[in-house]
Amino acid sequence: MIIGVPKEIKTREYRVGLVPAGAKAFVNAGHKVYVEKGAGEGAGIRDHEYERVGCKILKAANDLWKKSEMIIKVKEPIAPEYERIQTGQIIYTYFHLAAVPDLCKVLVEKKVAAVAYETIQPEDGSLPLLKPMSEIAGKMAIQVGAASLEKTHGGKGILLGGVPGVRRGKVAIIGGGVVGTSAAKVALGMGADVTILDVNLERLTYLDDIFQGAVTTLNSDSENIERCCRESDLVVGGVLIPGAKAPKLVSKELIKKMSKGSVVVDVAVDQGGCIETCRPTTHENPTYEVAGVVHYCVANMPGAVPRTSTFALTNATRPYGRHIADLGVVAAIRADKALARGLNTYGGHVTYEAVARDLGYPYVPIETAIGGSPKKSNGAVEKHDAPPAAAKALKPAAKKKAAQPTAQA
Ligand SMILES: NC(=O)c1ccc[n+]([C@@H]2O[C@H](COP(=O)([O-])OP(=O)(O)OC[C@H]3O[C@@H](n4cnc5c(N)ncnc54)[C@H](O)[C@@H]3O)[C@@H](O)[C@H]2O)c1
Repeated sequence: MIIGVPKEIKTREYRVGLVPAGAKAFVNAGHKVYVEKGAGEGAGIRDHEYERVGCKILKAANDLWKKSEMIIKVKEPIAPEYERIQTGQIIYTYFHLAAVPDLCKVLVEKKVAAVAYETIQPEDGSLPLLKPMSEIAGKMAIQVGAASLEKTHGGKGILLGGVPGVRRGKVAIIGGGVVGTSAAKVALGMGADVTILDVNLERLTYLDDIFQGAVTTLNSDSENIERCCRESDLVVGGVLIPGAKAPKLVSKELIKKMSKGSVVVDVAVDQGGCIETCRPTTHENPTYEVAGVVHYCVANMPGAVPRTSTFALTNATRPYGRHIADLGVVAAIRADKALARGLNTYGGHVTYEAVARDLGYPYVPIETAIGGSPKKSNGAVEKHDAPPAAAKALKPAAKKKAAQPTAQA
Protein backbone atom coordinates (compact mmCIF):
# COMPACT_ATOMS: atom_id res chain seq x y z
CA MET A 1 0.00 0.00 0.00
CA ILE A 2 1.11 3.58 -0.51
CA ILE A 3 1.22 5.40 2.80
CA GLY A 4 1.49 9.15 3.31
CA VAL A 5 2.60 10.88 6.50
CA PRO A 6 1.80 14.60 6.30
CA LYS A 7 3.12 17.34 8.54
CA GLU A 8 0.50 18.32 11.10
CA ILE A 9 -0.77 21.82 10.48
CA LYS A 10 -3.12 22.21 13.43
CA THR A 11 -1.87 25.00 15.71
CA ARG A 12 0.77 23.82 18.18
CA GLU A 13 0.54 20.18 17.13
CA TYR A 14 4.12 18.95 17.03
CA ARG A 15 3.55 15.21 16.89
CA VAL A 16 3.87 13.09 13.74
CA GLY A 17 1.94 9.98 12.71
CA LEU A 18 4.86 7.63 12.08
CA VAL A 19 8.44 7.53 13.44
CA PRO A 20 11.35 6.15 11.39
CA ALA A 21 11.32 2.75 13.12
CA GLY A 22 7.63 2.40 12.34
CA ALA A 23 8.13 3.56 8.76
CA LYS A 24 10.89 0.99 8.39
CA ALA A 25 8.51 -1.79 9.41
CA PHE A 26 6.07 -0.68 6.69
CA VAL A 27 8.82 -0.41 4.08
CA ASN A 28 10.22 -3.81 4.98
CA ALA A 29 6.77 -5.31 4.55
CA GLY A 30 6.71 -4.04 0.98
CA HIS A 31 4.77 -0.81 1.42
CA LYS A 32 5.78 2.56 0.08
CA VAL A 33 6.00 5.42 2.57
CA TYR A 34 5.92 9.10 1.64
CA VAL A 35 6.73 11.62 4.38
CA GLU A 36 6.12 15.33 4.01
CA LYS A 37 9.24 17.46 4.37
CA GLY A 38 9.69 18.53 7.98
CA ALA A 39 6.85 16.32 9.24
CA GLY A 40 8.92 15.00 12.15
CA GLU A 41 10.63 18.25 13.07
CA GLY A 42 8.37 19.11 16.02
CA ALA A 43 9.15 15.73 17.57
CA GLY A 44 12.88 16.09 16.92
CA ILE A 45 12.95 13.71 13.92
CA ARG A 46 14.80 14.87 10.82
CA ASP A 47 13.94 14.09 7.21
CA HIS A 48 17.11 12.09 6.61
CA GLU A 49 16.14 9.69 9.42
CA TYR A 50 13.09 8.74 7.36
CA GLU A 51 15.11 8.61 4.14
CA ARG A 52 17.59 6.27 5.80
CA VAL A 53 14.86 3.66 6.31
CA GLY A 54 13.56 3.88 2.75
CA CYS A 55 10.89 6.59 2.90
CA LYS A 56 10.59 9.23 0.24
CA ILE A 57 10.37 12.85 1.35
CA LEU A 58 7.84 14.95 -0.56
CA LYS A 59 7.92 18.72 -0.44
CA ALA A 60 4.30 19.43 -1.29
CA ALA A 61 1.48 18.31 0.99
CA ASN A 62 -0.95 18.22 -1.94
CA ASP A 63 1.31 15.83 -3.78
CA LEU A 64 1.58 13.53 -0.77
CA TRP A 65 -2.19 13.38 -0.18
CA LYS A 66 -2.81 12.75 -3.89
CA LYS A 67 -0.34 9.87 -4.13
CA SER A 68 -1.26 8.08 -0.92
CA GLU A 69 -3.79 5.30 -0.44
CA MET A 70 -3.60 5.57 3.35
CA ILE A 71 -2.83 8.74 5.30
CA ILE A 72 -1.39 8.20 8.77
CA LYS A 73 -1.48 11.28 10.94
CA VAL A 74 -2.17 12.47 14.48
CA LYS A 75 -4.97 15.04 14.54
CA GLU A 76 -8.18 15.18 12.54
CA PRO A 77 -7.78 16.88 9.16
CA ILE A 78 -8.54 20.58 9.50
CA ALA A 79 -10.23 22.84 6.91
CA PRO A 80 -7.19 23.50 4.65
CA GLU A 81 -6.70 19.74 4.44
CA TYR A 82 -10.27 18.94 3.35
CA GLU A 83 -9.59 19.54 -0.32
CA ARG A 84 -6.49 17.36 -0.15
CA ILE A 85 -8.50 14.32 0.91
CA GLN A 86 -8.90 11.86 -1.97
CA THR A 87 -12.04 9.91 -2.79
CA GLY A 88 -11.90 6.44 -1.27
CA GLN A 89 -8.77 7.22 0.74
CA ILE A 90 -8.06 5.54 4.06
CA ILE A 91 -7.30 8.04 6.85
CA TYR A 92 -5.95 6.66 10.10
CA THR A 93 -5.78 9.29 12.86
CA TYR A 94 -7.59 10.78 15.89
CA PHE A 95 -10.89 12.16 14.55
CA HIS A 96 -13.26 12.98 17.45
CA LEU A 97 -15.80 13.35 14.66
CA ALA A 98 -18.81 14.20 16.82
CA ALA A 99 -17.14 17.57 17.43
CA VAL A 100 -16.40 18.33 13.75
CA PRO A 101 -19.54 18.00 11.59
CA ASP A 102 -17.90 19.75 8.61
CA LEU A 103 -15.18 17.13 8.49
CA CYS A 104 -17.70 14.30 8.78
CA LYS A 105 -19.54 15.73 5.76
CA VAL A 106 -16.32 15.73 3.73
CA LEU A 107 -15.49 12.16 4.75
CA VAL A 108 -18.95 10.97 3.77
CA GLU A 109 -18.94 12.85 0.48
CA LYS A 110 -15.51 11.53 -0.42
CA LYS A 111 -16.34 7.99 0.70
CA VAL A 112 -13.32 7.97 3.00
CA ALA A 113 -12.50 4.96 5.18
CA ALA A 114 -11.92 6.92 8.40
CA VAL A 115 -10.29 4.79 11.08
CA ALA A 116 -10.33 6.72 14.35
CA TYR A 117 -7.65 6.01 16.94
CA GLU A 118 -9.98 6.98 19.77
CA THR A 119 -12.64 4.36 19.01
CA ILE A 120 -10.43 1.35 18.42
CA GLN A 121 -11.55 -0.83 21.27
CA PRO A 122 -10.84 -4.45 22.21
CA GLU A 123 -13.44 -6.63 23.89
CA ASP A 124 -12.28 -5.63 27.39
CA GLY A 125 -13.56 -2.11 26.72
CA SER A 126 -10.14 -0.48 26.97
CA LEU A 127 -9.07 2.29 24.57
CA PRO A 128 -5.47 1.35 23.73
CA LEU A 129 -4.81 4.34 21.49
CA LEU A 130 -5.92 6.83 24.13
CA LYS A 131 -4.06 5.09 26.94
CA PRO A 132 -0.55 6.37 26.15
CA MET A 133 -1.77 9.97 26.30
CA SER A 134 -3.37 9.34 29.68
CA GLU A 135 -0.13 7.82 30.94
CA ILE A 136 1.74 10.91 29.86
CA ALA A 137 -0.84 13.30 31.32
CA GLY A 138 -0.83 11.40 34.61
CA LYS A 139 2.94 11.56 34.94
CA MET A 140 2.98 15.22 33.93
CA ALA A 141 0.29 16.06 36.49
CA ILE A 142 2.74 15.46 39.33
CA GLN A 143 5.62 17.13 37.50
CA VAL A 144 3.62 20.33 36.89
CA GLY A 145 1.97 20.07 40.29
CA ALA A 146 5.34 19.90 42.04
CA ALA A 147 6.57 22.94 40.11
CA SER A 148 3.36 24.86 40.89
CA LEU A 149 3.91 24.20 44.60
CA GLU A 150 7.09 26.26 44.43
CA LYS A 151 6.71 29.73 45.92
CA THR A 152 7.71 31.53 42.74
CA HIS A 153 4.89 29.77 40.90
CA GLY A 154 2.26 30.81 43.44
CA GLY A 155 2.47 27.63 45.53
CA LYS A 156 2.90 27.27 49.27
CA GLY A 157 6.59 26.45 48.94
CA ILE A 158 6.48 22.73 49.67
CA LEU A 159 8.88 20.12 48.33
CA LEU A 160 6.81 17.02 47.56
CA GLY A 161 9.44 14.57 48.79
CA GLY A 162 10.31 16.60 51.93
CA VAL A 163 13.71 16.04 53.54
CA PRO A 164 14.69 14.15 56.71
CA GLY A 165 13.04 15.92 59.64
CA VAL A 166 10.51 17.78 57.49
CA ARG A 167 7.14 16.42 56.41
CA ARG A 168 6.54 15.20 52.88
CA GLY A 169 4.01 16.78 50.57
CA LYS A 170 0.54 15.24 50.51
CA VAL A 171 -0.98 14.28 47.18
CA ALA A 172 -4.61 13.25 46.63
CA ILE A 173 -5.51 11.69 43.29
CA ILE A 174 -9.22 11.48 42.46
CA GLY A 175 -9.73 8.69 39.92
CA GLY A 176 -7.45 5.65 39.97
CA GLY A 177 -7.53 4.80 36.25
CA VAL A 178 -4.68 5.24 33.78
CA VAL A 179 -4.08 8.92 34.66
CA GLY A 180 -4.36 8.27 38.39
CA THR A 181 -2.04 5.26 38.39
CA SER A 182 0.64 7.04 36.38
CA ALA A 183 0.35 10.07 38.63
CA ALA A 184 0.70 7.87 41.70
CA LYS A 185 3.87 6.25 40.32
CA VAL A 186 5.58 9.61 39.90
CA ALA A 187 4.31 11.03 43.19
CA LEU A 188 5.58 7.96 45.04
CA GLY A 189 8.86 8.16 43.19
CA MET A 190 9.26 11.73 44.41
CA GLY A 191 8.64 10.58 47.95
CA ALA A 192 5.21 12.14 48.46
CA ASP A 193 2.46 10.86 50.73
CA VAL A 194 -0.12 9.59 48.22
CA THR A 195 -3.84 8.86 48.48
CA ILE A 196 -5.97 7.58 45.58
CA LEU A 197 -9.76 7.90 45.63
CA ASP A 198 -12.00 5.91 43.29
CA VAL A 199 -15.57 4.64 43.25
CA ASN A 200 -14.52 1.28 41.86
CA LEU A 201 -13.59 -0.99 44.73
CA GLU A 202 -12.05 -3.59 42.42
CA ARG A 203 -9.76 -0.92 41.03
CA LEU A 204 -8.77 0.20 44.54
CA THR A 205 -7.97 -3.40 45.43
CA TYR A 206 -5.80 -3.69 42.33
CA LEU A 207 -3.99 -0.43 43.18
CA ASP A 208 -3.45 -1.54 46.75
CA ASP A 209 -1.89 -4.75 45.41
CA ILE A 210 0.39 -3.23 42.79
CA PHE A 211 1.62 -0.45 45.05
CA GLN A 212 1.98 -2.96 47.89
CA GLY A 213 0.32 -0.67 50.38
CA ALA A 214 2.57 2.30 49.59
CA VAL A 215 -0.46 4.41 48.65
CA THR A 216 -3.59 4.93 50.71
CA THR A 217 -6.73 3.95 48.80
CA LEU A 218 -10.06 5.51 49.71
CA ASN A 219 -13.61 5.23 48.48
CA SER A 220 -14.44 8.38 46.53
CA ASP A 221 -17.32 9.86 48.54
CA SER A 222 -17.94 13.47 49.45
CA GLU A 223 -16.55 13.14 52.98
CA ASN A 224 -13.30 11.51 51.91
CA ILE A 225 -12.91 13.99 49.06
CA GLU A 226 -13.43 16.93 51.42
CA ARG A 227 -10.95 15.64 53.99
CA CYS A 228 -8.32 14.83 51.36
CA CYS A 229 -8.63 18.22 49.66
CA ARG A 230 -8.35 20.08 52.95
CA GLU A 231 -5.29 18.08 54.02
CA SER A 232 -3.46 17.83 50.69
CA ASP A 233 -0.90 20.10 49.09
CA LEU A 234 -1.62 18.78 45.60
CA VAL A 235 -4.93 17.40 44.28
CA VAL A 236 -5.05 15.68 40.89
CA GLY A 237 -8.38 15.14 39.11
CA GLY A 238 -8.32 12.08 36.83
CA VAL A 239 -11.86 10.72 36.76
CA LEU A 240 -13.66 9.50 33.69
CA ILE A 241 -17.19 8.34 33.11
CA PRO A 242 -16.99 7.18 29.47
CA GLY A 243 -19.15 9.18 27.13
CA ALA A 244 -20.21 11.64 29.84
CA LYS A 245 -19.03 14.94 31.23
CA ALA A 246 -16.80 14.61 34.26
CA PRO A 247 -18.73 14.83 37.55
CA LYS A 248 -17.96 17.95 39.64
CA LEU A 249 -16.43 16.34 42.70
CA VAL A 250 -14.60 19.33 44.20
CA SER A 251 -16.87 22.32 44.71
CA LYS A 252 -15.90 25.97 44.77
CA GLU A 253 -16.73 25.96 48.49
CA LEU A 254 -14.25 23.15 49.05
CA ILE A 255 -11.56 24.99 47.09
CA LYS A 256 -12.04 27.90 49.51
CA LYS A 257 -11.44 25.54 52.42
CA MET A 258 -8.08 24.32 51.03
CA SER A 259 -4.94 25.90 52.45
CA LYS A 260 -3.50 28.84 50.51
CA GLY A 261 -0.85 27.93 48.00
CA SER A 262 -2.23 24.42 47.47
CA VAL A 263 -2.37 23.20 43.88
CA VAL A 264 -5.08 21.45 41.86
CA VAL A 265 -4.28 19.79 38.52
CA ASP A 266 -7.52 18.86 36.76
CA VAL A 267 -6.45 16.41 34.07
CA ALA A 268 -10.11 15.65 33.35
CA VAL A 269 -10.51 19.21 32.05
CA ASP A 270 -10.95 17.84 28.52
CA GLN A 271 -14.20 16.29 29.74
CA GLY A 272 -15.32 19.45 31.50
CA GLY A 273 -13.20 18.91 34.61
CA CYS A 274 -14.03 17.34 37.97
CA ILE A 275 -13.17 20.51 39.91
CA GLU A 276 -15.89 23.16 39.80
CA THR A 277 -13.46 26.06 39.50
CA CYS A 278 -11.59 24.48 36.59
CA ARG A 279 -11.54 26.13 33.17
CA PRO A 280 -9.35 25.03 30.24
CA THR A 281 -5.93 26.67 29.96
CA THR A 282 -3.08 26.41 27.48
CA HIS A 283 0.62 25.60 27.71
CA GLU A 284 1.34 29.31 27.15
CA ASN A 285 -0.61 30.28 30.23
CA PRO A 286 -1.26 27.06 32.13
CA THR A 287 -2.23 28.24 35.63
CA TYR A 288 -4.53 30.68 37.40
CA GLU A 289 -5.58 31.15 41.00
CA VAL A 290 -8.93 30.81 42.73
CA ALA A 291 -9.18 31.51 46.47
CA GLY A 292 -5.41 31.26 46.79
CA VAL A 293 -5.32 27.79 45.19
CA VAL A 294 -3.22 27.38 42.04
CA HIS A 295 -5.18 25.71 39.20
CA TYR A 296 -3.46 23.89 36.32
CA CYS A 297 -6.03 22.86 33.70
CA VAL A 298 -4.30 22.32 30.35
CA ALA A 299 -6.55 20.29 28.05
CA ASN A 300 -3.76 18.79 25.92
CA MET A 301 -1.03 18.09 28.44
CA PRO A 302 0.90 15.61 26.20
CA GLY A 303 1.43 18.49 23.74
CA ALA A 304 4.19 19.75 26.05
CA VAL A 305 6.26 16.65 25.39
CA PRO A 306 5.76 15.97 21.66
CA ARG A 307 8.74 13.69 21.33
CA THR A 308 7.63 11.33 24.09
CA SER A 309 4.02 11.65 22.92
CA THR A 310 4.90 10.82 19.32
CA PHE A 311 6.82 7.69 20.22
CA ALA A 312 4.18 6.61 22.77
CA LEU A 313 1.37 7.17 20.29
CA THR A 314 3.03 5.45 17.36
CA ASN A 315 3.98 2.44 19.49
CA ALA A 316 0.25 1.97 19.97
CA THR A 317 -0.97 2.87 16.47
CA ARG A 318 1.60 0.99 14.43
CA PRO A 319 0.27 -2.59 14.83
CA TYR A 320 -3.24 -1.60 13.67
CA GLY A 321 -1.77 0.53 10.88
CA ARG A 322 0.30 -2.40 9.67
CA HIS A 323 -2.75 -4.61 9.74
CA ILE A 324 -4.65 -2.17 7.50
CA ALA A 325 -1.71 -1.81 5.12
CA ASP A 326 -1.04 -5.54 4.92
CA LEU A 327 -4.62 -6.74 4.47
CA GLY A 328 -6.47 -3.68 3.20
CA VAL A 329 -9.01 -1.92 5.35
CA VAL A 330 -11.92 -4.28 4.65
CA ALA A 331 -10.10 -7.53 5.37
CA ALA A 332 -8.35 -5.94 8.36
CA ILE A 333 -11.58 -4.87 10.05
CA ARG A 334 -13.16 -8.23 9.28
CA ALA A 335 -10.27 -9.93 10.99
CA ASP A 336 -10.08 -7.64 14.04
CA LYS A 337 -13.15 -6.45 15.93
CA ALA A 338 -11.16 -3.92 17.93
CA LEU A 339 -9.99 -2.30 14.71
CA ALA A 340 -13.50 -2.51 13.24
CA ARG A 341 -14.79 -0.36 16.10
CA GLY A 342 -12.34 2.27 14.89
CA LEU A 343 -14.10 2.61 11.55
CA ASN A 344 -16.18 5.81 11.74
CA THR A 345 -17.03 6.32 8.06
CA TYR A 346 -16.82 4.06 5.04
CA GLY A 347 -18.11 4.20 1.47
CA GLY A 348 -20.19 7.33 2.11
CA HIS A 349 -21.76 6.02 5.34
CA VAL A 350 -21.29 6.83 9.00
CA THR A 351 -20.45 3.50 10.59
CA TYR A 352 -20.02 4.56 14.23
CA GLU A 353 -23.35 4.77 15.99
CA ALA A 354 -22.60 7.61 18.41
CA VAL A 355 -21.20 9.81 15.65
CA ALA A 356 -24.23 9.15 13.43
CA ARG A 357 -26.58 9.95 16.30
CA ASP A 358 -24.74 13.12 17.37
CA LEU A 359 -24.42 14.50 13.84
CA GLY A 360 -27.80 13.40 12.49
CA TYR A 361 -26.64 10.82 9.92
CA PRO A 362 -28.29 7.47 9.41
CA TYR A 363 -26.23 4.85 11.19
CA VAL A 364 -25.04 2.15 8.80
CA PRO A 365 -23.53 -0.89 10.53
CA ILE A 366 -20.08 -1.76 9.31
CA GLU A 367 -21.03 -5.06 7.68
CA THR A 368 -23.73 -3.29 5.64
CA ALA A 369 -21.34 -0.52 4.60
CA ILE A 370 -18.68 -3.01 3.61
CA GLY A 371 -21.20 -4.96 1.60
CA GLY A 372 -21.76 -1.83 -0.50
CA SER A 373 -18.16 -0.71 -0.85
CA PRO A 374 -17.49 2.33 -3.04
CA LYS A 375 -17.18 1.85 -6.77
CA LYS A 376 -15.55 5.17 -7.51
CA SER A 377 -12.32 5.52 -5.64
CA ASN A 378 -8.63 5.72 -6.24
CA GLY A 379 -8.59 1.99 -5.58
CA ALA A 380 -7.32 2.15 -2.05
CA VAL A 381 -10.38 0.48 -0.65
CA GLU A 382 -11.66 -1.87 -3.32
CA LYS A 383 -8.23 -3.14 -4.12
CA HIS A 384 -8.09 -4.76 -0.73
CA ASP A 385 -11.73 -5.77 -0.57
CA ALA A 386 -12.43 -9.25 0.65
CA PRO A 387 -15.69 -11.08 -0.23
CA PRO A 388 -18.58 -9.91 1.97
CA ALA A 389 -18.82 -11.96 5.14
CA ALA A 390 -21.86 -12.63 7.24
CA ALA A 391 -20.25 -10.62 10.02
CA LYS A 392 -22.16 -9.84 13.17
CA ALA A 393 -23.05 -6.22 13.95
CA LEU A 394 -20.25 -4.72 15.96
CA LYS A 395 -21.17 -2.92 19.11
CA PRO A 396 -18.83 -0.90 21.35
CA ALA A 397 -17.19 -3.37 23.71
CA ALA A 398 -18.88 -4.22 26.95
CA LYS A 399 -17.26 -2.07 29.62
CA LYS A 400 -17.53 1.36 28.04
CA LYS A 401 -20.81 3.11 27.25
CA ALA A 402 -22.05 3.17 23.66
CA ALA A 403 -20.74 6.66 23.06
CA GLN A 404 -17.82 8.03 21.17
CA PRO A 405 -14.96 8.48 23.62
CA THR A 406 -14.65 12.24 23.86
CA ALA A 407 -11.24 12.41 25.50
CA GLN A 408 -9.00 14.57 23.34
CA ALA A 409 -5.56 13.23 22.73
N1 LIG B 1 -5.72 16.99 29.99
C1 LIG B 1 -5.14 16.13 29.19
O1 LIG B 1 -4.23 16.45 28.44
C2 LIG B 1 -5.58 14.70 29.21
C3 LIG B 1 -4.80 13.70 28.60
C4 LIG B 1 -5.23 12.37 28.71
C5 LIG B 1 -6.42 12.07 29.38
N2 LIG B 1 -7.16 13.09 29.93
C6 LIG B 1 -8.40 12.84 30.68
O2 LIG B 1 -8.13 12.28 31.95
C7 LIG B 1 -9.31 11.65 32.44
C8 LIG B 1 -8.97 10.28 33.00
O3 LIG B 1 -8.55 9.44 31.94
P1 LIG B 1 -8.11 7.92 32.20
O4 LIG B 1 -7.51 7.44 30.93
O5 LIG B 1 -7.34 7.81 33.48
O6 LIG B 1 -9.52 7.22 32.41
P2 LIG B 1 -9.77 5.78 33.07
O7 LIG B 1 -11.07 5.32 32.55
O8 LIG B 1 -8.57 4.92 32.93
O9 LIG B 1 -9.91 6.11 34.63
C9 LIG B 1 -10.95 6.87 35.16
C10 LIG B 1 -11.17 6.45 36.59
O10 LIG B 1 -12.11 7.36 37.18
C11 LIG B 1 -12.84 6.60 38.11
N3 LIG B 1 -14.01 7.34 38.53
C12 LIG B 1 -15.20 7.49 37.90
N4 LIG B 1 -16.04 8.24 38.67
C13 LIG B 1 -15.34 8.56 39.78
C14 LIG B 1 -15.64 9.31 40.96
N5 LIG B 1 -16.85 9.87 41.15
N6 LIG B 1 -14.67 9.45 41.90
C15 LIG B 1 -13.47 8.90 41.72
N7 LIG B 1 -13.13 8.16 40.65
C16 LIG B 1 -14.05 8.00 39.69
C17 LIG B 1 -13.11 5.31 37.37
O11 LIG B 1 -13.53 4.29 38.26
C18 LIG B 1 -11.77 5.05 36.73
O12 LIG B 1 -10.94 4.24 37.56
C19 LIG B 1 -10.26 11.61 31.24
O13 LIG B 1 -11.19 12.65 31.37
C20 LIG B 1 -9.36 11.86 30.07
O14 LIG B 1 -10.07 12.44 29.00
C21 LIG B 1 -6.76 14.38 29.84
